[in-house]
Parts: sequence; C-alpha cells; structure tokens
Amino acid sequence: MRNLIDIGDLSVQELQELIDTANDIIARPEAYSEKCRGKKLATLFFEPSTRTRLSFEAAMYELGGHVIGFSGANNSSAAKGESLADTARTVSSYADIIAMRHPLAGSALAASRRAEIPIINAGDGSHCHPTQTLADLLTIYREKGGFSGLTLGLCGDLKYGRTVHSLINAMSRYEGLRVVLISPEELRLPDYEKHNVLERLGIPYEETASLEAAMPELDILYMTRIQRERFDCIETYERLKDSYILTPEKLVTAKEDMIILHPLPRVNEISTAVDDDPRACYFKQVTNGKFMRMALILKLLEEAEKAPGREDRFAGVTLTENLLCRNPKCVCSVEQELPHRFISADGDSPPRCIYCETKGE
Ligand code: NCD
Repeated sequence: MRNLIDIGDLSVQELQELIDTANDIIARPEAYSEKCRGKKLATLFFEPSTRTRLSFEAAMYELGGHVIGFSGANNSSAAKGESLADTARTVSSYADIIAMRHPLAGSALAASRRAEIPIINAGDGSHCHPTQTLADLLTIYREKGGFSGLTLGLCGDLKYGRTVHSLINAMSRYEGLRVVLISPEELRLPDYEKHNVLERLGIPYEETASLEAAMPELDILYMTRIQRERFDCIETYERLKDSYILTPEKLVTAKEDMIILHPLPRVNEISTAVDDDPRACYFKQVTNGKFMRMALILKLLEEAEKAPGREDRFAGVTLTENLLCRNPKCVCSVEQELPHRFISADGDSPPRCIYCETKGE
C-alpha cells in the first residue's frame, strides 16, 4: 500500500502519469464516472478548508464513489484526546482511503503508522501540502508546456506556507530550475528546505525582499497568503500582513507569458484587478486540483488493491533515536506515545525529525 505524505513519495515518472491521467479525465470524464463505484473516501479535516476538502469530495463523487468525514477538530474524538493513529485505524474500518488535514507538522505521517488504508496528506501544519502541488504542477504543465528551464518566484510567507515547501520539493527535480525567494526577513524559507533541497541539489536560488526587482526575470510568480494562524505573535502578523500586494501596475515589467499562481484563499495579496489579466491562473489551479485529486485517488486505490497492508516507509533506513525534537508544532511533541526519530538526508547532514524536519537536539 502507498500513502502520499510528502510530494517526494511520487517519482517524476509517477507525477507525469498523474498529469496524463488528469488530462485524460478532462478530455473524457465519462470514462471515469464509475471507476470508484462502491468505494469510500474519508475526509478528516481538523483545520479549515474550502478548496481542498470540497475538491476531494467532488473528485470522489465524479469517480462514482462515496464520501464520509468531518470538518473541524471539535467534531471528532480528537476533542476527547484520541491519538491520530487510533483515529486513522478506526476510520480504516469504514473507508477505503483517507484525505487528512491537521495543524501539526507530521500529522499525516503519524496517522499512517496505524492506518490500514492509504492516507493522503491534505496539509500538515506549516510543513507540506502535496496535493496542492499536484494542482500547481498540472497548471504549470498546461500553461507552460513542461517543467524545464523555468525561473520560479515564490512570494510572501515562505516560512509558514506549506504549499511553497511542497512546490519547491517537486520543481527541484526538473532540469534548469532557478528559484527566487521573495519575502520579508522574518518569513524566509525554513532552513530544512534551503539546505536539504535547494543547496543539496545545487539549485541556483536568491533571496530578496523586493517583488519589483524580481519581476522581470520570472516565468512563474507564486503568490501566497501571510499565514495568520501560524504566528505566535499577532503584532508581528499585523506588521507583515501587507508586505506584498500584486497590482496591474506591478505587472508592467513582467514577461508577457509569465503565469501568476496562488493556492488560494487570498486575503489582499493579489488585487482583484489582476484577475482579468491573461497571466492570472489561480482559478485554473482550483479546477486542475480536482482532476489531479481524481487521478491520485485512482492510483492509490489501485496500488492498495495490488499490495494491501501498511506501508513500511522507513524499511532499510537507519533512524537516529537518541535526540529530541523541540518543535512545539510537531506531532511528536504533542502525541506522547510517538517516539522521536530522526533521519539524515545524506551521510553528512544533521539528523532531522521524520515528522517536521527540524534538527534533532
Ligand atoms: C493553502 C493551505 O491550506 O495551505 N490553501 C489550499 O489548500 N489551497 C494555502 C493557504 O491557506 O494560504
């Protein structure tokens, strides 16, 4: 059985297969309308969501399947103190596949320890959001015709924006990528992304606070919301919340064929006056997300049928156990029974928590 915890769980070839399936679904939806007859998707959403949850639900209905689930932590036994592993094991008796969103980093991985059906990470705290990346990739593929030789600008909250982390992980696997990280000092990309991904893979990147300076060189501008709910200090949020506001005037220096992406929801970081610009693709991402989720559900259900049973994710990998994870927003800091475990990206780099990727101490 396979899960989708991190976008790195899918090879470049598998990403392309999902894109091809999604394009085929767009071309011939009727050929897919019975594929999940009799199957159930459980949506376990412990955090707010509009697009992700509804697109998963629409995806399953369009495949002929059913949906069960809850939205809001107060509507499940988590409110009584149940562990994610127990919740996932329970839901394994009622459904065939789980899509789960939770405020703690590593939550989907923690749930997968006891789940007997595939788990899809629909967002774990500020850590990752692999299915948003699937939506982003289909959009880039359809709009730019491929992934090589692109200059990707990521703008806004690069620290807490989980969609940014997963997109960098995915795009770093294509040739000729350049990355421009545009953020205020306080919201720069976390060090695990910079060191473990960009630097380790030798991807050229620069950091700047100026969207205007970066604009002319970009092929993709990925705008993000400042993630209010992740800040410990509301004054800091208030000071940073209007750091970047994209307007038609700022686009004057952009390439004619640049595309503007945003995972949504937007607050005010893209003026609605930009929506009619032909380069604005953020509502196309919404539509594409549903088709990629359909392709993903099909793939994971097929694999679970071929090879049932829990995924042994760290088989053959040496994990370090004599360290502690001190990230209070990591699932292993909150769920007492989870052992703290660490993994090294390669022989030289320091061991990082398997759940949230911060360095062990
Ligand atoms: C994003 C998320 O939840 O991380 N939304 C989404 O799933 N499309 C981005 C955000 O909330 O800013």
